[in-house]
Amino acid sequence: MTDPAPPILIRGGTLQTAETSLRADLLLADGVVAAIGRPGQALEAPTRAATLDAGGLLVMPGGIDPHTHMELPFMGEVSSDDFRTGTEAALAGGTTTILDFAIPTPGGSLLDAWHAWSERAAKSVCDYGFHVAVTHWSERVADEMTTLVRDHGVNSFKHFMAYKGALMVDDGVLLNSVGHALSLGALCSVHAENGEAVAHLQRALLARGITGPRGHPLSRPPAVEGEAAQRAIAIAGLLGAPLYVVHVSTADAAAAIAQARGQGQRVFGEVLAQHLLIDEGVYDRPDFAFAAAHVMSPPFRAKSHQAALWAGLASGQLHTTATDHCCFNASQKALGRDDFTRIPNGTAGIEDRMSVLWHHGVRTGRLTPAEFVAVTSANSARIFNMHPRKGTIAVGSDADLVLWDPEASRTISARTHHQRVDFNVYEGMEVTGVARSTIAGGRLAWHEGTLRTTPGDGRYVPRPAFAPICFPGRR
Ligand code: URP
Ligand code: ZN
Ligand code: ZN
Repeated sequence: MTDPAPPILIRGGTLQTAETSLRADLLLADGVVAAIGRPGQALEAPTRAATLDAGGLLVMPGGIDPHTHMELPFMGEVSSDDFRTGTEAALAGGTTTILDFAIPTPGGSLLDAWHAWSERAAKSVCDYGFHVAVTHWSERVADEMTTLVRDHGVNSFKHFMAYKGALMVDDGVLLNSVGHALSLGALCSVHAENGEAVAHLQRALLARGITGPRGHPLSRPPAVEGEAAQRAIAIAGLLGAPLYVVHVSTADAAAAIAQARGQGQRVFGEVLAQHLLIDEGVYDRPDFAFAAAHVMSPPFRAKSHQAALWAGLASGQLHTTATDHCCFNASQKALGRDDFTRIPNGTAGIEDRMSVLWHHGVRTGRLTPAEFVAVTSANSARIFNMHPRKGTIAVGSDADLVLWDPEASRTISARTHHQRVDFNVYEGMEVTGVARSTIAGGRLAWHEGTLRTTPGDGRYVPRPAFAPICFPGRR
């Protein structure tokens, strides 16, 4: 851990949280918010304090990306952003906390995975936590879940219903894991795609000679996601457990979540910024490298699904935005040149999530600035029990902030981004809404286009279990 940063006085900005908007100065000291000025009254700068002029800027809680995969060994490759480069890119875009996924080796120990991820993440420049994946079931898995919750600050477990023969779990594993997590006060999440159906459709497509990237969305139609989402929701409902559905990409899954919520079930839905803005047309391009760069799961969808996702965020039936940041260079994607099922799945996005959501969300009127803070930061902090340390601006909260220029523009490009990958799915998109400065743990980490970070600046964020009263199904 590096030395504490000197105090920072932020003058003249508009504090924008998920609840309020007010003109006030802000004093940061010892890594936390030390004082919030009265509206219209200047705060005095203590000696040694640096002063930042935030006139014309919004001062918002730093973004939280609840779904990333830094240096993930996956499909025969390792994702190309590591915890240093990936979190540098996060800060450049205004994100100050990530939740990554610690994934055990096949049949392996969950604790070993947590330790392996902790070692890799030690070089992070922003704060981080881990969801831990459950990929099989045994008494040992149950015991390790207990240890992770009790001693390691893990309160969420992930289940892949897809990736047959690798990470996929069946309903038996899901029932056991969701039931046990409930008894621990931990939240379960699912990647909702029917992996048996995907494998079946993949075989059929390959047999018909469809080997290129166009086969990817054909093997994962919306019903594949809708069915799995409904099944996972039903399993959680049977047990009285809450559920978080990652990367909801279809109207089908969004409707399943809304319906369950309407019946009183506690289900949360996450949307990727990429799915809101990019549609399935990308797979029709004859250029293999271009189409393969967009191979991720779930795939990009028809535009009608995007409307359902925006509506879900605006109505509060979907809750968080993430990126599933999992990047592979063209040379890695080329592994699947003759067989789309071997293209490493994943796209980048951590650096651009906040800007594209501001531009296409707030500036179009789909989201208010308060809703923007909710879906980029506050809701993740609440759902994963990091609030009010994260996700808000309050005395004692972590000094994780973004000084946001709502009128500045930039053009997104792989040539200029900080993500360690040779492709950007938003290439050429001009966005208005830019992180002028990002403060992480009280440090000015990104300022006017320059990173000021040291590997290891980021800290592990232990997330306590939820109290029994939060989980009414808990016995
Ligand atoms: O294509 C994706 N999403 N890659 C990362 C792994 C996952 O499914 O989240
Ligand atoms: Zn996934
Ligand atoms: Zn993922």
